[in-house]
Amino acid sequence: MTAIDEAVNTAAEWIQDANALVITAGAGMGVDSGLPDFRGSEGLWEAYPPLAKLGLDFSVMANPRWFQHDPRLAWGFYGHRLELYREHKPHLGYRILHDWCASREHAVFTSNVDGHFAAAGFDPERICEVHGSIHHFQCTRPCCSAIWRADHYRPQIDPETLNESGVLPRCGACDALARPNILMFGDANWVSDRSHEQEQRHERWLHRMHRRQLVVIECGAGTAVPTVRMDGEWIAREHQARLIRINLRDTQVGDGELALPMGAKDALQAIDEAMMRFF
Ligand SMILES: NC(=O)c1ccc[n+]([C@@H]2O[C@H](COP(=O)([O-])OP(=O)(O)OC[C@H]3O[C@@H](n4cnc5c(N)ncnc54)[C@H](O)[C@@H]3O)[C@@H](O)[C@H]2O)c1
Repeated sequence: MTAIDEAVNTAAEWIQDANALVITAGAGMGVDSGLPDFRGSEGLWEAYPPLAKLGLDFSVMANPRWFQHDPRLAWGFYGHRLELYREHKPHLGYRILHDWCASREHAVFTSNVDGHFAAAGFDPERICEVHGSIHHFQCTRPCCSAIWRADHYRPQIDPETLNESGVLPRCGACDALARPNILMFGDANWVSDRSHEQEQRHERWLHRMHRRQLVVIECGAGTAVPTVRMDGEWIAREHQARLIRINLRDTQVGDGELALPMGAKDALQAIDEAMMRFF
């Protein structure tokens, strides 16, 4: 039996024994659905060749100042991502997680803004989108705190320039330019109310789960913006929870934690098959 087979079997046992699951996820969770994770400049530039021509990397592009300086490019980037996340369907791994959660207490904590846990059938009341959601908009004016759903917006993007050539979305309350309700880099104007409310609900849930047999299943969370990894590690420490880290590359773990150096879909499928064999 290989070391990976052993780790898969251990993960299956832990999940089988758990009476509460915390699913934590970063951009790597979306990769098997066909979504880019923007790892390094190359990852972003492969997905967005016009940004390669301009030499703009993710931390430069994901900045609210573009909505002032070049709103058509800002909306080209975010409008394209919105359409991408709308068009792609969550992969099989989401359904497997959803099945495991059906008979257990559970919560989802993610920095992904793609809305794919809700699209896969998870109860929105159990999801914490700590960096916001691309399916929600807010106003660019600092004094306006409205957040609304993006459902009516249909972007029209020129693939050569990555410019939005259609009508730019505007705030229904004050008519200023709208922007996605996502936490960007250097973002003093992010309206955090929606995510903050979700975080508070997540914390109350964790408090109720005290002394339960908790397992954290972390999928595709990177090290550059370590919010998701830190949350899972904190839960493991504070709640004596077990942590399963599923990641193609960044698999460093502490004592008593389990690393699965695999893609999220394959890993979740392998664990599910092991559970069916054993139990
Ligand atoms: N889908 C999305 O919503 C999305 C996509 C890209 C970026 N973002 C945003 O950018 C930031 C990026 O941080 P991050 O840590 O989530 O992403 P990241 O790009 O920094 O890291 C991705 C991680 O996933 C791993 N990975 C790649 N492919 C994988 C696979 N198939 N299976 C399992 N693991 C895989 C990588 O090794 C890496 O550790 C976040 O703040 C997030 O809001 C969101």
